Amino acid sequence: MENIYQPIPAKIVRIEEQSHNVKLFRIKKQRGKFEKNSDGLVFTPGQFILLGLWGYGEAPFGIASPPNENKFIEVAVRRAGMLTEALHRLEEGDDLTLRGPYGNGFPLKFFEKRDLVLITGGCGIPPIASLIEYIIKNRENFGRVYLLYGAATPDDILIKDRIKQWEKSIKVLLTVDKPTPEWKGYTGLVGEIVDEMKINPLNAAAAMCGPGPMVAALEKILRPLGISDREIFVSDERRMKCGIGKCQHCTTGDKYVCLDGPVFNYDQIDKNWD
Ligand SMILES: Cc1cc2nc3c(=O)[nH]c(=O)nc-3n(C[C@H](O)[C@H](O)[C@H](O)COP(=O)(O)OP(=O)(O)OC[C@H]3O[C@@H](n4cnc5c(N)ncnc54)[C@H](O)[C@@H]3O)c2cc1C
Ligand code: FES
Repeated sequence: MENIYQPIPAKIVRIEEQSHNVKLFRIKKQRGKFEKNSDGLVFTPGQFILLGLWGYGEAPFGIASPPNENKFIEVAVRRAGMLTEALHRLEEGDDLTLRGPYGNGFPLKFFEKRDLVLITGGCGIPPIASLIEYIIKNRENFGRVYLLYGAATPDDILIKDRIKQWEKSIKVLLTVDKPTPEWKGYTGLVGEIVDEMKINPLNAAAAMCGPGPMVAALEKILRPLGISDREIFVSDERRMKCGIGKCQHCTTGDKYVCLDGPVFNYDQIDKNWD
């Protein structure tokens, strides 16, 4: 019988230091490539994997790489506790395990033909990054696309090289809490950000990776833009163990984040945000 908890042996093939506490890991399976589904995707943007290290356990991470890439996946790991400290000590060539992809991901078909507002902050960028890669690869299927990405300081903005590439295809708006003298983006969530976004609210949708601090963005950006709660999709984060609906570690209201999410329609979870 297939063991659903069975981790897949994997190897780190590239590590990039992204900020003082975040590293980007490129990971390959030890044997073979990742399988693609009938849409040519290895995962749906917004899905997550469980990374594991012997002796330290497992934790969920959003996938940051393009969803059609099957030779490797990439995750951005923020140093937060035991497992992530141990991951940060690893070097290129070291072994680890993975399981997944799990969860639902963003509703790609629902997003088609609409103007899109993508909002994220700090280390919430991975699922939004893979969504953007998908949108750019299928650019003709989407309307105007805006990324609003906030960070504490300019140094905390992750995957800067990819953001530069994205700017050729979508409008990128960067904002920080504490600017440096050289900073050319926005500071805080200011009204001009809304003025920059020319969307048709009757045919628009939003994707956010939060949850907590995203409430402010919702009130200051999405409400003035007129995007309704039914068109807002939020990637939620909860502590997880099994990742597959068996252990009840990740409940939010009457839902399991691992199984029913991590992407929820805002209508479904607005009472349960941390
Ligand atoms: C769907 C999903 C996607 C994610 N994607 C990413 C990602 O792309 N990148 C990323 O860096 N992280 C991501 N996370 C978060 C990541 O899984 C956690 O930070 C993970 O717990 C880190 O494991 P750790 O062992 O290093 O830290 P832990 O030991 O789990 O500790 C992490 C933090 O939680 C606190 N904590 C410990 N125990 C509890 C408890 N019982 N209740 C509440 N708080 C507690 C600790 O004090 C510490 O501050 C994601 C989480 C989910 C659910
Ligand atoms: S992590 Fe076990 S039920 Fe969701």
